[in-house]
Amino acid sequence: MSLKIIPKVMLSIGLVGIGMAGIGTAAFADGWDPNSKATNIGSITNTRHNLTLDYLNAGGPTPMDFARNNYTEVCVYCHTPHGANSQINAPLWNRTVNPGNYTVYDRPTTLGLEGRMNLPGPSSLTCLSCHDGTIAIDSILNMPGSGGYGNNELGTADTTFLDTWPAMAGRDGTVGNHFTLGGELGSGDLNSTCGLCHSTAGSLIPDFRLFMLGTDLRNDHVVGITYPTTFGPGIDYNEPEVIIPNKWSFFDSNGNNFAEKDEVRLYDSGNGPAVECASCHDPHGIPSNGPGTEFIPSFLRISNSTPNNDGIGGPSGLCLTCHAK
Ligand code: HEC
Ligand code: HEC
Ligand code: HEC
Ligand code: HEC
Ligand code: HEC
Repeated sequence: MSLKIIPKVMLSIGLVGIGMAGIGTAAFADGWDPNSKATNIGSITNTRHNLTLDYLNAGGPTPMDFARNNYTEVCVYCHTPHGANSQINAPLWNRTVNPGNYTVYDRPTTLGLEGRMNLPGPSSLTCLSCHDGTIAIDSILNMPGSGGYGNNELGTADTTFLDTWPAMAGRDGTVGNHFTLGGELGSGDLNSTCGLCHSTAGSLIPDFRLFMLGTDLRNDHVVGITYPTTFGPGIDYNEPEVIIPNKWSFFDSNGNNFAEKDEVRLYDSGNGPAVECASCHDPHGIPSNGPGTEFIPSFLRISNSTPNNDGIGGPSGLCLTCHAK
């Protein structure tokens, strides 16, 4: 049975939201959305990537229980200690992934990209498993508790498997509603997506439209592109200090030969060092100025607006790590 009915409480929250329209809609540096109630400090638990979140009714039923299984654990939406997805080379990945059905940058002649443009690599497919809007947010392989193992490794969610979740006592779940984030930039039929509620500008409900990248990646910073491997006059790219073939290259700002999470990296998944989503973003959050400080907005590894105490980041700091402009 399908439960695609908006509960009454949601409608009233929506109305409060409309009353607040216009507040907090200004553009913020690095893209952070002020409508978020996450403190964005300390750990991923306090960020928007904690998908168990409920700020209205902490610990009780949440509006999102209507749209996804609430596994009540933060990491499990992305990782599992056992039975991880064997189709993708990503850390203990617990999610169904899209095998690579994307439209990618298509202007090779103008920029000399021939032979360097590839489909998104593993360090992008992880993010896209939620952000392309084709796979249910709760589509994991290993649900907490014994026996909760199954699901498709590639493609879309096995909703019959996900429906077995509410049978376990004491945790919220939903039968028949395993929503995806939404269509491209919030377009299309949003009725079976998180965008059903999360696509209202200026409302108290955070607006996810910009987070819904879709499968046409031509309007996003190019990913899957092999980075230049020669540098010097005429090449507008900076050379990463450390290059480890078949693994990654990174801009080693503290010179210790170790890829810290606040250092931009290029992932080598067989086609040479490439730009992927996780080159620029760390999905767990990076403190803006040492432990205990607020994370850099938009899960960026380096701030694109404000330098930290070590002078890293600042206006276009992220972009200028790679681009010598
Ligand atoms: C029925 C409407 C509705 C649907 C559908 C819905 N949400 Fe929400 N969501 C809300 C409301 C209302 C809030 C704000 C209240 C709160 O923070 O608890 C919210 C807040 C959130 C937050 C906290 C945001 C922040 O930064 O403060 C997250 C994360 C979230 N939703 C995720 C999701 C995901 C993922 C889906 C789809 C699986 C989803 N929601 C579907 C109504 C909905
Ligand atoms: C929203 C998805 C998401 C959640 C939730 C999440 N992670 Fe991750 N995690 C990732 C991705 C994606 C990577 C791979 C990043 C890359 O490509 O380098 C990763 C990588 C890691 C790594 C490998 C080293 C590193 O930092 O890149 C560890 C360890 C890790 N996560 C631990 C955790 C723990 C512990 C939790 C829960 C507290 C957690 N993660 C929650 C997405 C997530
Ligand atoms: C398990 C699903 C999931 C995965 C995997 C995931 N995300 Fe998200 N992400 C979300 C949801 C849901 C939101 C919106 C939450 C909210 O608004 O509270 C979000 C929000 C974001 C935001 C917006 C933060 C802001 O306010 O600007 C960024 C940036 C982001 N994700 C990047 C990434 C990147 C990069 C990866 C991979 C390294 C990734 N995400 C992996 C579900 C996911
Ligand atoms: C070259 C660096 C870079 C790469 C690669 C990259 N991003 Fe981003 N991303 C950014 C920056 C910078 C912002 C903040 C932009 C802003 O202020 O709007 C951002 C913002 C976002 C947002 C928040 C919405 C928005 O537009 O502000 C999401 C979601 C996101 N990125 C997801 C991804 C995903 C998924 C990938 C891989 C397909 C990816 N990003 C690849 C740099 C990058
Ligand atoms: C991790 C390295 C890296 C970072 C960081 C990075 N870029 Fe790029 N960028 C590339 C590569 C590689 C290309 C491929 C273009 C080529 O080879 O001609 C590219 C291409 C581009 C292009 C041209 C492609 C097009 O769509 O026309 C623009 C514009 C661009 N980047 C802007 C930015 C901006 C703005 C930022 C900061 C938000 C940024 N880049 C951060 C590596 C990076």
